[in-house]
Amino acid sequence: MEGHSRATDAAASGGANQGTDHDHGFRKGKKRVKPGREGWKRKGKRPALLSDRAWTCAEEDHCETPLAAFRDLRPALRSVAKLCHKDCAKVRIYDPFYCEGSMKDHMNSLGFSNVYNENEDFYERVRTETVPPYDVLVSNPPFSGNHVEGILRFAVKSRRPFALLLPDFVCRKVYFQEIVAGGTPIALIAPTEPYRFWAPGRADKGIRGRAIVPKAHGLEFGCVWVCCFWSFQKKVIRWWRKGERSESFCKLYTSANDLPQTSTTKKRGNPRQRAKARKRMALAASKG
Ligand SMILES: C[S@@+](CC[C@H](N)C(=O)[O-])C[C@H]1O[C@@H](n2cnc3c(N)ncnc32)[C@H](O)[C@@H]1O
Repeated sequence: MEGHSRATDAAASGGANQGTDHDHGFRKGKKRVKPGREGWKRKGKRPALLSDRAWTCAEEDHCETPLAAFRDLRPALRSVAKLCHKDCAKVRIYDPFYCEGSMKDHMNSLGFSNVYNENEDFYERVRTETVPPYDVLVSNPPFSGNHVEGILRFAVKSRRPFALLLPDFVCRKVYFQEIVAGGTPIALIAPTEPYRFWAPGRADKGIRGRAIVPKAHGLEFGCVWVCCFWSFQKKVIRWWRKGERSESFCKLYTSANDLPQTSTTKKRGNPRQRAKARKRMALAASKG
C-alpha cells in the first residue's frame, strides 16, 4: 500500500493543540489540560528520546497516540472486558507497535493495567510464533509501507477482538474490503475532529518533540478506530448506543459508507469526471 506521512508541523494545523471543546480538553482541578496533551507531561517529563530499536521504519511513523483517543475507545473496551468476564484491570491488551511506551501509561490511567507494549520487533514475534497471549488487540500502527494492511490481516486472522487506529480512508481501500469480506463485522469509532499525535523528537539529532496531524498528499486526514468484536459485536454496539459511550466524543458507524465524507474519504470520480472537475476549477480560477 501507499505510504502516508504523519509529518506535519503543529503550526500548520493552527498551532499545537489549540483547544476547542471538542478537542477533548478536560479540567484537572482548576487547570485546563491542553487537548491531546494529557499524559505527555506526566511525572514532569515528555518522551523526548527516541529509544534504540530492533527495526527501522519511517521517521514520521514515530509518534504516540494521545490519551484522548484511548478515552474515546474506553466504553467499547469496557464492554469487551465485561463480556470476557474480566475486570478492566485484568483484560489482556496487546499493542504490538512500540514508540516510547506512553500508550501503556494512558491505558493504565483509564483503568486498563494489563497492557503489553514493549520495545521489541512485532514481526519477529509473529515469525517465531511468540506473540504474547491477549484478549484484545489495541494498536495504532505505522502508516507507511505495508504495516496497515499487515496488522489488519493479523488482526482478522487471530479472530480476537481488535481496535486499530487507522487513517479514515483505509476503509475504502481494496485490500481492506478484501480482508473483511466473508463475515468480519466491523465497527468504526470516529472522532469529529482529527487526533493530534505526539512525535517524540530526537535528542541525538536536536529534533524537538511536537504535536502532529497526519497528512497524505499534502492533506490532513483523520483517524478512526477500526474495530471488530466478533461474537460480542452486537452487544458492544447495543450498549454503546444505549449510553455506555457517554464519555466518548466519537460516533460509531457499522459501515464505511456512513463515515462522514472528508477530502480523503470522499470517493474519487472516474477519470472523465475528474478531468471535468479540473476544467471547472481552472475556469473558476481564471475568472478570479
Ligand atoms: C504510530 S506509532 C504508535 C506507537 C504506539 N502503538 C502508540 O499507539 O502510541 C507506530 C510505532 O511502531 C513502531 N514500529 C515500527 N515497526 C515496528 C516493529 N517491527 N515492531 C514494533 N514496533 C514497530 C515505530 O517505531 C513507531 O514508533
